[in-house]
Parts: sequence; structure tokens; C-alpha cells
Amino acid sequence: MGRPTEHTPPSSQSPAPPPPFSTTTPHDEPVVLASNVEKAYEGRPVLRGVSVSVRAGERVALIGPSGSGKTTLLNCLGGVDRPDQGSIRIRQESLETLDSAGLARLRRFHVGTVFQFFHLLPTLNAFENVELPLQLIGVPPAEREERVNRLLTRVKVEHRAHARPAQLSGGEQQRIAIARALVHRPAVLLADEPTGNLDSVNGANVLALLRELTDETGTALVLVTHSPEATAICHRVVALRDGCVVDSPH
Ligand SMILES: Nc1ncnc2c1ncn2[C@@H]1O[C@H](COP(=O)(O)OP(=O)(O)OP(=O)(O)O)[C@@H](O)[C@H]1O
Ligand SMILES: [Mg+2]
Repeated sequence: MGRPTEHTPPSSQSPAPPPPFSTTTPHDEPVVLASNVEKAYEGRPVLRGVSVSVRAGERVALIGPSGSGKTTLLNCLGGVDRPDQGSIRIRQESLETLDSAGLARLRRFHVGTVFQFFHLLPTLNAFENVELPLQLIGVPPAEREERVNRLLTRVKVEHRAHARPAQLSGGEQQRIAIARALVHRPAVLLADEPTGNLDSVNGANVLALLRELTDETGTALVLVTHSPEATAICHRVVALRDGCVVDSPH
């Protein structure tokens, strides 16, 4: 399949320097290690000393009632938000030591994210949405094309490569969002209720893809969910209640 359209990256997307982190994670080191994370909004505690660790290839379901702090924790793990107290390490890199540019670079190289409402860029087609993370880290065009097409085929939307998000079904959009989240081969995939806006058939397809692709790549997965079907693809469950981990069955 050829390139659907040429997409000129913004000038800020010139090849990025290599990441200032080690490029391997020792086998016995967690990919994600959060220790005693605390976070308050407007003086109200939302996370109250949360510790979580996730190893390569491990899938962890993060469950808990609405408002218990799941999305807040995911945002802290991905370096989108900063804890007030505690530490977070991604591949042994301490997030608290990074400035905002360092956090952005860590996200670009090592973190993938999937959301409940897909969050594809509406003006880009499917191919371009999946290609964007590779542009941001300076992958050359021929390699981008090869990797994007392979992944679009893997998530079974190669026939919709030219379509924009508004022309796609919810299931197609989420499969493209998964391709976008994994195309740069991140160490960790953070997924916030990725089946929450899908019917049961599309939800099951998305869960099967998340299981298969993380098995194939060894990507650590933190999966926020309210659904037993999603919890079932995970190796472990971490339950939050009122900002605390209340249960972590193995
Ligand atoms: N930016 C913010 N400013 C103020 N309060 C916030 C902010 N973000 C989240 N909160 C509050 O923090 C608490 C935890 O929110 P969070 O989104 O982490 O919950 P959640 O467990 O993901 O819930 P849900 O299952 O409904 O998505 C909630 O009470 C929420 O209102
Ligand atoms: Mg949430």
C-alpha cells in the first residue's frame, strides 16, 4: 500500500536528538514504578500514597469507583501531570528529575496512550494519525510508511487508511488509536477505559488486540477499566478507593 497523502510535519518535528535515557530495561526492573504518590486538587487529596509497579510484558488492570483517582494516577504515570509527593520511574528514569521538555521527550519515546473517546486528530487520516508519533521522534519516511502500514494491517483497518476519523466507526477509530499508541514501540501503554465507548463486539476486538500486541511486544500495560472483560485480559488487578490502593491480588 502506498502513502495515502503527503503530510508535512510542523517545523517543530525535525529529527529529535536521541533520548537522554538508557535504551534497555534490565529484565528484573519494573518498567513503571510509582512510590507513595500523592496528588491533591484544590487542596482536596485525590491520590494518597499510591504505590504501583509494572514489569515488561505485564498487564495491570486499574479499577475503582468513579472519582477514586484512576485517571489522575494514569496522568501522573505518563508524565502528563506531576504528583505533589512521591516518585515515579519509567524505565528507571525518575520523572521528578525531568523538566517539561524532558517529560515530553520521555512520553514521545516510551509511553503510548489510548483514551475512551479515541482522540484521533480530526484533520489527519488514519495513516497520518498513526504516522505522527514516528514523525515526532524523527523516524525516516520510508521506515514510517512500512511500520504504519504493517500496524494498520495488524489492527485490520488498512482498507481505511485514507479515511479521516469522522468517516470511521468507533471500533475502527479505537483500533487506529491503538496502532498510534504502539507504533513507536513504547515501553508502557496507558489505556483509560479503552472499551468504555464501544459495543460488546468492538470492545472484545479491542481487548483481544491489546492482549495480543502487548504479548508480542512485551509492552507493559496499565488498563483503567470498569469492565470484567477488560480485567480478564490482565495479569493483576490494582484497586483504588478514595485515592488509596485497597487491593492488589496476584
Ligand atoms: N483538574 C482537576 N481539578 C480539580 N479536580 C480534579 C481534576 N481532575 C480530577 N479531579 C477530581 O479528582 C478526583 C479523581 O478524579 P479522576 O478523574 O482521577 O477519577 P477516576 O477514578 O478516573 O473516575 P472515573 O471512573 O469517573 O473516570 C475526582 O473527584 C475529580 O473530580
Ligand atoms: Mg477516569
